[in-house]
Parts: sequence; C-alpha cells; structure tokens
Amino acid sequence: MNRILIVDDEENIRLMLRRVLSDSRYAVEEAANGQQALEKIEQGKYSVILLDLRMPEMNGLQVIEKMKEMDINTPIVMMSAYGTVPEAVEAMKSGAMDYLVKPFDLDELKMTLERIIQHNEIKNENIYYREEEDKRFNFREIVGQSSAMKRVLEMVKRVAPLPTTVLITGESGTGKELIARAIHKNSLRQDKPFVVANCVAFSPNLLESELFGHEKGAFTGANITRIGRFEIAHDGTLFLDEIGEVNLSTQAKLLRVIQEKEFERVGSSTSIKVDTRIVAATNKDLIKEIKEHRFREDLFYRINVFTIDMPPLRERLEDLPLLIQHFIKKYNQILNKRISNISSEAVSLLTSYSFPGNVRELENIMERAMIMCNCEIMDRELFFFLEQKSNSLPAGTLKTMEKEMIKKTLIQNKGNRTKTALSLGISRRSLLLKLKEFQIDIKSE
Ligand SMILES: Nc1ncnc2c1ncn2[C@@H]1O[C@H](COP(=O)(O)OP(=O)(O)OP(=O)(O)O)[C@@H](O)[C@H]1O
Ligand SMILES: [Mg+2]
Repeated sequence: MNRILIVDDEENIRLMLRRVLSDSRYAVEEAANGQQALEKIEQGKYSVILLDLRMPEMNGLQVIEKMKEMDINTPIVMMSAYGTVPEAVEAMKSGAMDYLVKPFDLDELKMTLERIIQHNEIKNENIYYREEEDKRFNFREIVGQSSAMKRVLEMVKRVAPLPTTVLITGESGTGKELIARAIHKNSLRQDKPFVVANCVAFSPNLLESELFGHEKGAFTGANITRIGRFEIAHDGTLFLDEIGEVNLSTQAKLLRVIQEKEFERVGSSTSIKVDTRIVAATNKDLIKEIKEHRFREDLFYRINVFTIDMPPLRERLEDLPLLIQHFIKKYNQILNKRISNISSEAVSLLTSYSFPGNVRELENIMERAMIMCNCEIMDRELFFFLEQKSNSLPAGTLKTMEKEMIKKTLIQNKGNRTKTALSLGISRRSLLLKLKEFQIDIKSE
C-alpha cells in the first residue's frame, strides 16, 4: 500500500485531496503545517509527499531543507498557486520531483502520483542499474521536464547506442543540433569526432567537396587534395544539418554513401570506405519535398529510419520557467552579472508570447533583457520589446486562460480579494485591475 502525506494549511484542500485519493491504492494522511509534517515524516515511510509551497511559519521550501538535514529523500510534489512559478522552480532545484499549479487538474495529479510511485518501484528493484544508466546518459545541458521533452530524451536514450541513422525534424530553434550532439555523446562513438556539415552554407559544388573531399586539380582552385567531412567523421558521427536543402545530384551521392558506406573524392575514381554514423536534421516537410520532386524518396527512406520530432516551444510552455532559469545562469557567466531571479509578472509576460523562433529566440530575448538589467531580479519592464509582439498575438487563448484562472480562484476564496491575490501570487492592486479588465464581478460572501 502506498502511503501519501498531504501537507497544506488549508483544510479544504486537504479534504478535497483526501477524498480524491482515498481509493484502494493509497493510504492518505494529513498534516496542517510544516512542523506536523516533519514529525510524521520522521515516524513513517511515505511513498510521496504532497507539499504546499506557501504556508505560515514554515513554508514548503523550509520543509524540504529540514528533510535534507534529516537525510530523508521521499519524493515530493510541490503544490503552488498560479504566479509563484519562480518559487516552484526553486523548489524543483532544491529537490522536489514535480510541481502542480493550483487549481490543478485531478487527473494530472493522479498521473503525477502514479509516475512517481512507479519510478520508486523501479528504483527499489534495481538501484545499481539506475545509477549506472544515469552516469552513462548525459543530458545535463538539455532543459525540459514536459512530457514532450521527456519523450524526446527517452528516444535519444534508446537510439544513441545503436549505429542507426537518425532524422531530427522540427522548426527552427527547437534544439535539433543539441539533440544531435546528445545522440553522439551518448553513443559508443562518444570519443570519436562529431562533425557538422551545414548543407545550406555551401553552393552545390562546394558542398560535394565539403562532404566528400576533392583531389588536387579536380576543379579550378583545387590546389591541394582535401579530405571531406565523411572521412573526418570516420568512426564518429556526421551531422547533416538542413538536409532538405541538398540538391538532387548530391542526394544521389549521399544515398550511395549511406547504402554502400563508400564514396569517391571529387575528381577521383578510388573508393574510400568509411564507417560514419549519420544524424540528419531538417525543418522542411520532406514528404512534401518528395511530392514536388525536390527530394529523393529512396534517400528519404534511408534517413527516415528513426525520426525524432522536436516540439515547438509554444507547445511545451511548462518548460519555460526551467529554460529561463537555465539562461539566467548561462548569461550570468557570459555577461558577468549577478541576476538571481525573475519576477512572476515577467514570466507571465513571456508565457503569453508565442516564440516563433523557439528556444533560440527565448535565449536571445533573455540575453537582451539581461544586458539591460542592473538589478538582482528581472522585472517585466525589461521585456518591453515583447509587449508589442504579444499584444499582436492572434490567439486570445492565454487571456482566456488567465481570466478562467482568476475566476476559479476567486470562487474558491469565496470572493475574498485579499486571499485570492495571495493565492495567485499577485498584488491586490493588480488583481483589482485584472478584475476590471476582465469584467469579473463576483461579490464577496
Ligand atoms: N532543451 C533545451 N535546453 C537548453 N537549451 C536549448 C534547448 N533547446 C535549444 N536550446 C538552445 O537553443 C539554441 C538553438 O538550438 P539548436 O541550434 O540546437 O536549434 P536548431 O533546431 O538546430 O535550430 P535551427 O533549425 O535554426 O538550426 C542553442 O543555443 C541551444 O543550446
Ligand atoms: Mg540547427
């Protein structure tokens, strides 16, 4: 039987959670504050702890700290109100496994618990195996906890150790090259070269000589014999970036080297054997390219053995807080700054943006704002250049979501403005402004 501890100062929430979770699989217990929680944790072994972030006296983060001192590492799911995302990120950093934003979806809550419990079971079965695996797979620089990113990383884990050709598709800036490097780093070829060939960077003739090399005198200007990237990447990995841009005659040569594992340098008739693993990337729809006779179908089937489709950032906005923290850390170093955090207003402004340029655009936005920032906490004003862009967003969906969230919270708090503002993590003043903007008219009871 899995024991779950609910820690929340609000009785309503505890009651609600107890009601939802008290089925045959779980034994549910409660604590009304941090101190009570710690006493219970010390006495009994829990499978999961559902921990409220904001509580009077001892908050969720302090409970985690104390648990660390006690050397107890029971998985924790942080529960936090809308608007406290940076604090939730802090919680994740200090060891919480997951966080749920109130008011949360009950199915999501159950799924989160199931996932953690399963994870526990596997871990207990074979701790040694897990530790080995984590050492071998190295995704440190890849940020993402969304289910879409987890799926991507799972695929990388599976395919990396094999010699299989991989095709990475996805919009510009979604992290295709990052994933290609991760595949190499987690492969048996990790100590051999990872070579990039950007297929749009060269004219068609030059591209062939870049890929396959050329003999001295092969064409005007070929004064020396040159080895191509296929040869340099021998025993290693060749990353063919923007493969959708390769012209048809070079495609035929690529097909041959992938099939036969041999090729000739430009201007030579001697075949060279190579063992090069290929990872290709494109932001084009190759099926469409095939239909329009710009891409060879046989080559497509050769490279489309195992495809990883990178999700656009706007479809995994739950990763935004983590990515923001990641870039704050990165550019603190590069720009020699000491920025410690970002305000929740700034995060919600970023959340309302659609990021056509995906993670790369987010990175640029963060760098630009950090250059302008002379303070410790980044505020909304630093992102002024986004206001215009996000106002022109076609979808009013985010506004609608915000309105719904405020309405729900207001009802939960029986119309009490102060409590509502508190649990939304915004000031009372900005709550009142929002109520006016959204024309929400719920009277206090
Ligand atoms: N999940 C992620 N975590 C951390 N950084 C990321 C992530 N995804 C992308 N980045 C960063 O965003 C930038 C763009 O990523 P990358 O170059 O891999 O994208 P791409 O899909 O190859 O883009 P393009 O199609 O424009 O070439 C890089 O600086 C990369 O480090
Ligand atoms: Mg790229």
